[in-house]
Amino acid sequence: MAQDAWWAVARSEEVTSAKPINVDIGDQPVVLWRDQHGAAHALEDRCPHRRAPLSLGCVLGNGMIQCGYHGWTFDGETGHLKNIPNLKSDAKFPPIYRATPFGVAESAGFVRVCLNAKATAPVATNENLPLSGTVNVALDHDQYIAALFDDPALVLAMRGVRFTPYLTTELIVEQGLLVMERSCQWAGPHWPAPFSSDFPISLRIATDPLTGESELSLRDDMLRPVLTARIAPVPAARGVTQVRWRARLAPQRSGLMARAMGTGTPFTLRSAIDGAALRVLKPSASIHAAALRAELTARAQQSSAA
Ligand code: FES
Repeated sequence: MAQDAWWAVARSEEVTSAKPINVDIGDQPVVLWRDQHGAAHALEDRCPHRRAPLSLGCVLGNGMIQCGYHGWTFDGETGHLKNIPNLKSDAKFPPIYRATPFGVAESAGFVRVCLNAKATAPVATNENLPLSGTVNVALDHDQYIAALFDDPALVLAMRGVRFTPYLTTELIVEQGLLVMERSCQWAGPHWPAPFSSDFPISLRIATDPLTGESELSLRDDMLRPVLTARIAPVPAARGVTQVRWRARLAPQRSGLMARAMGTGTPFTLRSAIDGAALRVLKPSASIHAAALRAELTARAQQSSAA
């Protein structure tokens, strides 16, 4: 697990001051909540007293989190113990009790957590993708990203769109992201890809090599965006990958595009992967991607250690 990676562990609207929530980064449980000023906080989801999940507690009016078991209260910024109920006024807090704090940042409609509390926060962007959701997929994180690279149809659907096996560009590295572009067709009126040379749309995927967070851009033959989506796979417990997504469909659609895409939610992330199709899928782009991911990850780890 890359210690300096920023994982999109929640959609912004999921994190409130009404109730803390639990998320995982691999085997690391994390509790998230907002304080009274709207700032998000993340601590290890284990009370340092008797290990109860802090996410079963509550958020106090002062923005601190209170364990639901014996009522100890912790500061979200530092994890320091701030109050023990019924403690004598002259008693001191035992200094060993401190909840582990994590780095928190918010950007593009996601709350991001870094296991290294001192890591530099990523630059925030105000991308507005109003559609959103979360799925839990019984596939490990690396396999999930490999499936996305080799056949996006295994992990997602864009209504009216058929992904072809043909890449319009080789997988390249662009500004630290792995970028690939795949030819696509409108599902209805075309021959299937092997019998056609007409690819009126393409899907560009730009992926962060550390986390697998990917920006998906479906573009027409004039390279105008038709559908933009961001998917954020995060390794969770027991080999599950928890994937949050946000998307936006271009407001202007006409002719073929309007007919193919119809109305309603145009984007779906699959929570169940077709095992039969996955088993026979030949690794293609993922082979090259895995080597590039390993190289970029090693470089990022070296620079954060320097
Ligand atoms: S377990 Fe949290 S206060 Fe005791």
